[in-house]
Amino acid sequence: SPLAAWLRGLPKAELHLHIEGTLEPEMVFALADKHRVPLAYASVDALRRAYDFDDLQSFLDLYYAGADVLRDEVDFHAMTAAYLRRAAADGVVHVEIFFDPQTHTARGIDIGTVIGGIHRALVEGERELGISHRLILCFLRHLSEAEAEATLDAALPYRTLIAGVGLDSSERGHPPQKFARVFARAASLGFKRVAHAGEEGPAAYIRDAIDVLDVCRIDHGVRCDEDPALVAQLAATRMPLTVCPLSNTKLKVYAQMQQHNIGRLLRAGLCVTVNSDDPAYFGGYVVDNYLAIADALSLSRAELAQLARQSFEASWLDDAVRQQWI
Ligand code: HPA
Ligand code: ZN
Repeated sequence: SPLAAWLRGLPKAELHLHIEGTLEPEMVFALADKHRVPLAYASVDALRRAYDFDDLQSFLDLYYAGADVLRDEVDFHAMTAAYLRRAAADGVVHVEIFFDPQTHTARGIDIGTVIGGIHRALVEGERELGISHRLILCFLRHLSEAEAEATLDAALPYRTLIAGVGLDSSERGHPPQKFARVFARAASLGFKRVAHAGEEGPAAYIRDAIDVLDVCRIDHGVRCDEDPALVAQLAATRMPLTVCPLSNTKLKVYAQMQQHNIGRLLRAGLCVTVNSDDPAYFGGYVVDNYLAIADALSLSRAELAQLARQSFEASWLDDAVRQQWI
């Protein structure tokens, strides 16, 4: 469509992307075959049909199961390279990607294998596709803070390759406070901080991520809506929200895209951005997310361009580079 072509031509940064969530069913089967890993599904189509979720946890169960086929450095490289090709086709010029080391170290895979494969693909993507990058290490919030501390220790030899730390996985019952000490240590080591908050969890988790974890962005954050004073604060401080529309409808945060609040938050002056989260599982990459909200919320091209500009405002690019894209 003309709108899709125009959106692909708009320079964009993607700031909320779990690299393990880009593992397409075809690659799951190819890697299962390579490593002789048995799968619970008979075919690529049967696996894709299973991507029909009730909530965050029903997705996470399949997402962690899918990641089990990632075994060596070449696998992490191939997954990341495939994502970067799709991002380039969508007009993404800068990526800040999450990875979940604990999903892999718990299976006996060295964190160096994970970081090495991802980083090699990012360096090639910069050279061959012109996509700049930052890497964000996420702690799994359903695990303990002690396990997060051990993960931070294991990552320290790769310190220069990692821009920041984040917090993902099951939100409810795992508030930001649970990770106050490890985030403070990450801050003292010079890591930037972000956290998933206000996806399924309450608006209070957004406040606590800001006040207790000292984050510079909120991942998702759509439930800020339940606290008008918080919405006003987010607007006044330009605290970015990395919103993922197709994720929110697939995980039933909203029953329908027409109910999504991103258009309202944009008009209220918030630094909201559009991202794909786990595109292999949620049915679309970043332009599909822009198209879905453009259609459901009748956003104008000026509003869509503003969302793309805000993705650079919210990014960790150096100011001189940021200005080239805004
Ligand atoms: N929320 C929480 N954890 C996740 C997500 C998400 O959207 N995607 C991958 N891990
Ligand atoms: Zn996410």
